[in-house]
Amino acid sequence: MKISIIGTGYVGLVSGICLAEKGNQVICVDVDQKKVDKINKSIPPIYEKGLEALLKKNLNVNFKATTDLHQSVLKTDISLIAVGTPFDGAEIDLRYVKEASRQIGISIRDKSSYHVVVVKSTVVPGTTDEVVLPILEEASGKKAGIDFGVGMNPEFLREGEAIEDFMFPDRIVLGGMDKKSIDVLEKMYSVFDNIDILKTNNKTAEMIKYASNALLATMISFSNEIGNLCAAIGGTDVVDVMRGLHLDKRLSPILDNGERIIPAFTTYLQAGCGFGGSCFPKDVNALSAYGKKLDKPMLLLEAVMKINEQQPRQIIHMLEKHFPSLEGVRITVLGMSFKPGTDDMRESPAIPIVKELIARNANVKAYDSVAKKEAMNLFKDKNFVFCDDLNQAIHGAEAILVLTRWDEFKDIHKIIRKCEKQPLIIDGRRMLNKHLFEKYEGIGL
Ligand code: UGA
Repeated sequence: MKISIIGTGYVGLVSGICLAEKGNQVICVDVDQKKVDKINKSIPPIYEKGLEALLKKNLNVNFKATTDLHQSVLKTDISLIAVGTPFDGAEIDLRYVKEASRQIGISIRDKSSYHVVVVKSTVVPGTTDEVVLPILEEASGKKAGIDFGVGMNPEFLREGEAIEDFMFPDRIVLGGMDKKSIDVLEKMYSVFDNIDILKTNNKTAEMIKYASNALLATMISFSNEIGNLCAAIGGTDVVDVMRGLHLDKRLSPILDNGERIIPAFTTYLQAGCGFGGSCFPKDVNALSAYGKKLDKPMLLLEAVMKINEQQPRQIIHMLEKHFPSLEGVRITVLGMSFKPGTDDMRESPAIPIVKELIARNANVKAYDSVAKKEAMNLFKDKNFVFCDDLNQAIHGAEAILVLTRWDEFKDIHKIIRKCEKQPLIIDGRRMLNKHLFEKYEGIGL
């Protein structure tokens, strides 16, 4: 099938390259000429595991990038809108979605064959039918449902695993204004075997995406709230409490042969210093704001965000138990990205924590194997030093904060054991063996 994708962020580019790998002819469109040039030289503008190899393999075979949206729409059967939808504090900002819709509409005006326009960006329910569709009709001078179709196809890609998630999806949700639009979308995915395909209307497809992220974020805040109570009770450890929950056979089913399945789902039921990234905070906030607008306040989701915003403070409280003042205290932060496997620091809990440490005149050293550039851009204070080496970061620290679940931090006890004076360890991810440290504090302990 011939596909154009508008927007080459991580959703647009990953979707484009994977659809090309699956045998479609794909044109990725972006307004940023520099980005387009990079992609056409096989240089991915973002880091995503496996992306470069697939780009090299498909470039100029099934795949290319361009700034020419008009020609791309004319030459393809379906256009996917995958532009950003930032949250401005009150609602999602639809300016990029609207502009892409307008441009596609103008191109459809010059097209004689049937075209389908699909929203892939995360948008609040109603956006595809009530914002995108009318803009397309107005710009094209044509009628949706007759001259062109409109669909909604949310993505469920995790950063760092996006290629894998696209190539081996757990579900494909196809929203459409009518059967014809959905049929075209289904044809695009016909090369994916044995996948549960859910066909529905556009609004439901939009809602499925939000509900999915809201559930995962709720599980994290639930775990954090339970963890904070465990810490207040004393003598209970949230790690054991959560393990006890995971063993509920409705969460981890036992097969007939006695083997237990531990679903990845349970990893979201662990206490820590909070969730971040470009999706959970934005989507939960956007859904809450949308509910409020409809006079249906989302009380649970508001609490999910409140708990998450407060969670980084737990780390500071633990430090305060050991140091009456943080001024001049040598503190090492391990992990700056919002999760392992990425250099993305957007909404990372490390940001408010490091800001607070700097504000209190602590001497901060940070280490993260991939997020150096991002961290250095964010923190230019004289009391903030970035270390390229884990040993160097740990050496001389009075307190060490583990903020990202990077695998390489699992063995820090081996380095710490060699330190002359044992530092305080604050485990913000509960990923260390608490018995291996002289001075240990952890979320929910
Ligand atoms: C999330 C969803 O998992 C994807 O399904 C969705 O498509 C994506 O948002 C999106 O809307 O685009 P992502 O933001 O890449 O993906 O991150 P996750 O791996 O889900 O992690 C989000 C947060 O949850 C992180 O702060 C992380 O620390 C926390 N997390 C993640 C856990 O607590 N446990 C885990 O096992 C994984």
